[in-house]
Amino acid sequence: MTSITEAASASTQALSSRAVEGFRQHFGSRPYWLSVAPGRVNLIGEHVDYNNGKVLPMAVDLHVVMTAAPGNHTGLRVYSAAMGHEILLSSASRQTQTGSWAAYIEGVYQLFGALGLDIPGLDVYIESNLPSGAGLSSSAALEVATASLLEVVVGEPLESWQKIRLCQKAEHEWAGVPCGIMDQAAVVLAQAGHLLQLDCRSLESQQILFDEPDICVLITNSQVQHKLSDSPYAQRRAQCESAGELLGASLRDVAMQDINDSPLLDPETKQRARHVVSEIARVEDMTLKVSRQDWETAGACLYASHLSLKEQYEVSCPELDLLVELAQDIGQAGGMFGSRMTGAGFGGCTVSLIASSEQDAIIGRLREGYRAKTGLDPDFVLSRPAAGAACFVLHGPQT
Ligand code: GLA
Repeated sequence: MTSITEAASASTQALSSRAVEGFRQHFGSRPYWLSVAPGRVNLIGEHVDYNNGKVLPMAVDLHVVMTAAPGNHTGLRVYSAAMGHEILLSSASRQTQTGSWAAYIEGVYQLFGALGLDIPGLDVYIESNLPSGAGLSSSAALEVATASLLEVVVGEPLESWQKIRLCQKAEHEWAGVPCGIMDQAAVVLAQAGHLLQLDCRSLESQQILFDEPDICVLITNSQVQHKLSDSPYAQRRAQCESAGELLGASLRDVAMQDINDSPLLDPETKQRARHVVSEIARVEDMTLKVSRQDWETAGACLYASHLSLKEQYEVSCPELDLLVELAQDIGQAGGMFGSRMTGAGFGGCTVSLIASSEQDAIIGRLREGYRAKTGLDPDFVLSRPAAGAACFVLHGPQT
């Protein structure tokens, strides 16, 4: 299993070289195409994408890379280096089990076929330094890398939102996760050096410059893995839908007072709705603070988000809470501005805003404190906002 720390220091270039070399060794020929898709970390706006709210993710410098060439067969012959496993996917029938690594690829492949596009037989080799089950959207990266590859292979670029929706549908139907739109959108639309502020209702997006060298985004992997397909994710989503129906409006349009005063919502549904309404407000607040480079108050938004996810939405876990407590102990004097769990929760990572000058000391203190209480070794990555997915032609029949 790749450690996040190792992965972050291995450049995309090195990963790409491994994917090219691995393809040659496995399939015995040169790849024609190389498709690359990043993971994402969400700074704030958790569990609001499926409630029409705004989110603030960025792409991280951890990637899925696919190399491919025409194969002398129909369907996709796909080899994953991480899994050490090959699978043959056909356009005609389903081969994969819901939620298996190849299901994401198969979903996108079959949905592409359903658009009436003629996809030739392909050999595909996959390398990745993106950990799965860590809340960094390795699934969206697999989906979008596949879609980006197929667009170039068939010579039919999809409109960005068509591609994002297609990948989301693959996740709903092949992985069985009723996810929102944030992950696929971030992986497609991200730009280097920017956070993506995405309005999940209007689908308007804004690139927010984030290139202050003195400030870093630190991602800490708790090493507690989540599995969304059997997590209470779907249950939370259903509770929000029920709250919206009972209140007669999307939670995006509801005020805290409406929730507090409602005789229709049970106490647990009120908690869920309170998180969503407060989190939607925090995204605007945090975006403003980041634009003004007001790191101290931006950090306070992260702590407030964590508390709400822990107490109202109940999607944190003791390990994530511990990482946030350790961050609070370090405090601003130690260069830690704020921290919270990120992604769906139930394990995975925290995201923290820190002073670059203190990064080594902060990582040391988090590691030591976390090890002492859990016996687990957390993993760290410092990432600048990376670019979204792309596919390149390496070599073709004419070259
Ligand atoms: C997962 C889902 C996203 C989003 C987050 C929580 O990553 O895929 O759509 O709902 O959880 O913010």
